[in-house]
This record gives sequence, structure tokens and C-alpha cells, in this order.
Amino acid sequence: MRDRETLVVVKGLHKMYGDFTAVDHIDLEVPVGQVFGVLGPNGAGKTTTLRMITGLILPTAGEVNIAGYDLRTQTVEAKTVTGFIPDRPYVYDKLTAFEYLRFVGGLYGMSRAEIADRVDELLGLFGLREWSSSLIESFSHGMKQRLVFAGALLPNPRLLVIDEPMVGLDPKGHHLVKTLFRRLVEEQEMSILLSTHTLEVAEEVCDQIVIINHGRIVARGSLGELRLESGQTDGNLEQVFLRITEESQEERDEKVAERFGLATGGTGTDGGSA
Ligand SMILES: Nc1ncnc2c1ncn2[C@@H]1O[C@H](COP(=O)(O)OP(=O)(O)OP(=O)(O)O)[C@@H](O)[C@H]1O
Ligand SMILES: [Mg+2]
Repeated sequence: MRDRETLVVVKGLHKMYGDFTAVDHIDLEVPVGQVFGVLGPNGAGKTTTLRMITGLILPTAGEVNIAGYDLRTQTVEAKTVTGFIPDRPYVYDKLTAFEYLRFVGGLYGMSRAEIADRVDELLGLFGLREWSSSLIESFSHGMKQRLVFAGALLPNPRLLVIDEPMVGLDPKGHHLVKTLFRRLVEEQEMSILLSTHTLEVAEEVCDQIVIINHGRIVARGSLGELRLESGQTDGNLEQVFLRITEESQEERDEKVAERFGLATGGTGTDGGSA
């Protein structure tokens, strides 16, 4: 059996905002047909990383290659194989669900016939078929999230990037999405890169996980490998996560203090020369 092919290669990805480092030289590889989870505390750099991988913001340094396309020089090709669901998706309230999906399909260059076929299937999958002609402004938060999922899957992307997929979904929606993720990777060899705070989801669906803290990858591997690394051999992902992120808490405190020009340590003997 040969090794899994790699769909996404990220090397030395780095983002500065002024002199603040939001993402600090991240390397990662997402194999074909796997769910890859990015975890980490608030402000760790997850959204910034995903936005750079989808080409929404430019990195300060580093490379992103998707399906053999260099995101910097072959931007359109790389974006065409990628579907993205941001953490705060924007949908046009004055369109109907069908019109929204037709618009998305148009952006990806799909024909009207292809769009009509896929739209019906996806509206059915996400329980929205009867809402096809309703204005999005009449949708609840979770219904909008389901519609955004349908839009991202419409062009059948090879890579699906999702920032916080579970926000706004009810338990049935959670179940649907978790089952769908496994089906997409196993039956269609899609690769899914997601960030989440819902550790139970990461635990159930992710083949590989990286934990980011203050812009750096502080742990990576399968859940089993992370358990070993954190010494929590029988812990669930929450215990593993807390252990790994606590270890880097001291470093984090120092970085925040540095950003806001505060003294650290509380000893008052840091020998500052100001
Ligand atoms: N446009 C920006 N300008 C300045 N700083 C930014 C900007 N966007 C993000 N940051 C900073 O970069 C860091 C990483 O933010 P990011 O949104 O990537 O975190 P996150 O891991 O997605 O957090 P959360 O779990 O809260 O979604 C934070 O300290 C944030 O304040
Ligand atoms: Mg975020």
C-alpha cells in the first residue's frame, strides 16, 4: 500500500500585524482523504492560518501549495479546488436559497444544468429543500449555516476549509456534519481542514490534529499520539488539550506582556534599561 498523497503543503507560514506575530512559521501537510483539525485557545492564530491557506489574506512569509498549485503564483487554480466556510459567513439576505447557490455555482464556472442537479441534492442533504424559494432573511442562524455548507460543497471541491463548522448548528446538524465529513473523506477522497473549539467533534472526526498556541504549533499527531505526548494516556481530548496548552501558558503570558509593554514575572528585578 502506498502512502497517502498530500493535498496541501504549508511551509513557514508567517503573519505579522505590525510588530505582533499572529502566526509564527507554521508547517503542515494535509493528506488526501483526511480530516485535519486545527485546535487552540482564543487568539492562537487558527483563523489567521486558515485565511492565509484560502488566499483571503496574504502571509508575511511562507508558502502554500494546494493540489500542486502555488497559491501565490497560481492563485485562481488553487482557489478553484478549495471550498471555504469562514467563521462568520456572509450570505445575501435578499436572495432565495436557490438564487444564492446559483450565484456560488456561477462563481466557480459551473453550468446551469450542473448547478440545478447539485443544488437539489445539497438542499435535500441539508434539510432545506422546502426552503429553496424562501428569502435567506427569513432563515434562522443554523439554517444559514446549513446553506453555507451546501454552497461550499456545490463545486465538489477537493479541499474544504472550515473555520468553526459547528457554530449555530443544533444537535441534529452536529450529527449531520460529523457523518458528512467522514463520508466526504472516505467516499470522495476530499480533504477537510477545520478549526474547532468543539473538542468532541475533533475527537470523533479528525484523523490528525495540530494544536496552535500563540501562533506556533505546540503539538501534532493523531489523538493517540497527542495523548502520549501530553502524558494523558487515557485522557479525552479536553484533558490532552488543557495539558498541552497549559504547558505553554507561561510563554503566552510573556508574549502578551511584551505586546502591551507590561513587566512580567512580578519580581521587579528584570533589569530593564528604560
Ligand atoms: N486584522 C488584524 N489586525 C491585528 N491583529 C489581528 C488581526 N487579526 C487577528 N489579529 C490577532 O492575531 C491573533 C490571532 O487571531 P486569530 O483570529 O487567528 O485567532 P483564533 O485562533 O482564530 O482565535 P478564536 O479561537 O478566538 O477564533 C490574535 O491575537 C488577534 O488579535
Ligand atoms: Mg478564529
